[in-house]
Amino acid sequence: MTIIVTGGAGFIGSNFIFHMMKAHPEYRIVCLDKLTYAGNLSTLKEVLDKPGFRFVKADICNREAVYRLFEEEHPDVVVNFAAESHVDRSIEDPSVFLQTNIIGTSVLMDACRKYGITRYHQVSTDEVYGDLPLDRPDLFFTEETPLHTSSPYSSSKAGADLLVMAYHRTFGLPVTISRCSNNYGPYQFPEKLIPLMIANCLADKPLPVYGEGLNVRDWLYVEDHCRAIDLIIHEGHVGEVYNVGGHNEMRNIDIVKLICAELSKPESLITHVTDRKGHDLRYAIDPAKIHGELGWVPEMKFQDGIKKTIDWYLTHRDWWEEIISGEYQDYYQKMYGNR
Ligand code: NAD
Ligand code: DAU
Repeated sequence: MTIIVTGGAGFIGSNFIFHMMKAHPEYRIVCLDKLTYAGNLSTLKEVLDKPGFRFVKADICNREAVYRLFEEEHPDVVVNFAAESHVDRSIEDPSVFLQTNIIGTSVLMDACRKYGITRYHQVSTDEVYGDLPLDRPDLFFTEETPLHTSSPYSSSKAGADLLVMAYHRTFGLPVTISRCSNNYGPYQFPEKLIPLMIANCLADKPLPVYGEGLNVRDWLYVEDHCRAIDLIIHEGHVGEVYNVGGHNEMRNIDIVKLICAELSKPESLITHVTDRKGHDLRYAIDPAKIHGELGWVPEMKFQDGIKKTIDWYLTHRDWWEEIISGEYQDYYQKMYGNR
């Protein structure tokens, strides 16, 4: 079995490659990644020389490069993680989000149609459902919840999802989609809430909480997400969407306070800054379908996962200090300088 993993030099894609190489050592894994600011080849250093693994630097929007790779590798399965993934950046400049997240998805699926595959899996997000009110803890996103997006990022992901279902219906492409909640764990780029707060805490820098910090996210350890995708590509039903989440809702402010406590830093570092435009209030996944149909349950408890994650950032300072020493400083100044 040959699997093309796009976006495998990013956070979840790299964790998925590690998971698959451990769980299925007989598979050939081909990582296709453009190495944008969010992709880091050093993340993959432990597998780069392994037999059965190949890295190819290419853009999923580049039809010629994608077709060439399909001709060389004859993949059985494609798992598409490649995306522009940060909401704040999509508010600054939506265009690259539409290009990669929508056009790139269509190029990949065209290659799948042309060369034939047994499964195309689209890694999507719970953000396609929009948000839920804070005062209705009884409401959850199911696979039937209508798409109702808030940001250019989530709109581009919803656009891609619609296209994936259209390729299934119109061309009979064997597709599946997973829509997961917020991930955390090793190798997450320090623009996202948890690694950003860890890095700032360690540098005794202000911790920029948007608004009051009352927005709720449903956190899942990245390895649990990877196991879910592994299960879906093997046992999931073609044409189906699977929501992935672990009923682990937390307010942003509580996450930040927890990180302060774990690192023995004062909560006085917390600085409330201007809210994100169009900020989604609450995400909450109902994972009953993947649990009932495929038997998936999350294994990592949040209190253990967050300790493990903080510990990983403490012991892998070289990985993220290198990242935040470069153009990240300009990004940080632009996003947080006058907030
Ligand atoms: P990430 O930003 O850490 O990584 C994205 C990767 O895609 C990078 O390696 C980047 O170089 C690559 N990439 C970007 N544009 C590309 C292009 N045009 N061609 C080839 N490669 C390209 O993202 P992530 O957090 O790992 O998210 C991966 C996927 O999972 C995304 O599709 C995202 O929408 C989805 N998702 C993320 C979360 C989360 O909490 N992070 C939750 C649910 C779903
Ligand atoms: O729900 C899945 C989504 O989770 C994925 O589709 C996205 O790719 C991923 O980036 C993530 O989106 P969020 O916008 O929820 O994640 P982020 O880490 O950017 O923010 C989490 C919450 O923390 C959100 O309510 C905004 C807030 N926040 C974020 C940052 C970066 C802050 O208060 N301060 C910050 O500096």
